[in-house]
Amino acid sequence: MALASRQPVGAETLSAGGQGDSIVTVRDLTKRYGRTIAVDGISFDIHRGEIFGLLGPNGAGKTTTLEILEGIRVADKGDVRVDGLDIRRNRRAAQARIGVQLQATTLFEELTVRETLALFGSFYPRAISPDSLLADIALEEKARARPQDLSGGQRQRLALALALVNDPSLVFLDEPTTGLDPQSRRMLWDTILRLRERGKTVVLTTHFMDEAQSLADRIAILDAGRIIAQDTPAGLIGTLGAKATIEGVVEPGNVVSVDELRGLAAVAEARERGGGC
Ligand SMILES: Nc1ncnc2c1ncn2[C@@H]1O[C@H](COP(=O)(O)OP(=O)(O)OP(=O)(O)O)[C@@H](O)[C@H]1O
Ligand SMILES: [Mg+2]
Repeated sequence: MALASRQPVGAETLSAGGQGDSIVTVRDLTKRYGRTIAVDGISFDIHRGEIFGLLGPNGAGKTTTLEILEGIRVADKGDVRVDGLDIRRNRRAAQARIGVQLQATTLFEELTVRETLALFGSFYPRAISPDSLLADIALEEKARARPQDLSGGQRQRLALALALVNDPSLVFLDEPTTGLDPQSRRMLWDTILRLRERGKTVVLTTHFMDEAQSLADRIAILDAGRIIAQDTPAGLIGTLGAKATIEGVVEPGNVVSVDELRGLAAVAEARERGGGC
């Protein structure tokens, strides 16, 4: 039996006009650094409660895009709205709703983990307690450690906690798992997935397709400042036209008919071979 399986194609392809309840809308965003066009007229929407992945190689424009959405970098052209607020005109109000993990986080080496969380909390009128944040990132036993005594994965988790201090509804994570071993990466994935369960919207950048596929509800692929594709992970794989052929032997008494297999959404073609199925 041979199955050529195919994911459903682009059923949820994004349109520039947007759909659903968008927490972020980006239209015709452009940013140059001298002669370099870092972001070249991109448009997309981020839906409330989803994990949105910006995927792309080094220099694609991911960080620049994120920093403009966060209100810490100013675009040359385009319109960005966060929760309905124009990020240029209402920057402070928009920033009160967001949490940011930068690509590289500088930590105060003299402060313990708990003191760091307390300090960042003191910048906001309403902040989550350090103990609750420590529990969120499973770092309670390191509460008294200093940043230089943390492993790379623990530092990344602390950086994530700092992005959550003001209990934001929208969280930006710039390459949250870069440099981590597979186990630390998985732990961070779980933490990020829990944020979505709690109703937060997460925007993250990554170089890794597997990470985008495992975490993101929708992905925009950025290359040289342009969005070259945007869709659900399944839709993107389908658009690539990638098919996998699966061959197998079905035990007697556990027979699946070829017609049943053909009826499955992900199956493009099913054939019987050599009398078996
Ligand atoms: N402050 C800056 N001054 C000049 N050029 C910059 C600056 N920041 C970024 N660039 C350029 O803009 C382009 C996009 O950079 P950006 O940091 O947004 O990419 P990225 O997708 O985040 O890359 P990476 O995966 O390496 O983090 C690159 O060509 C980069 O060299
Ligand atoms: Mg970057």
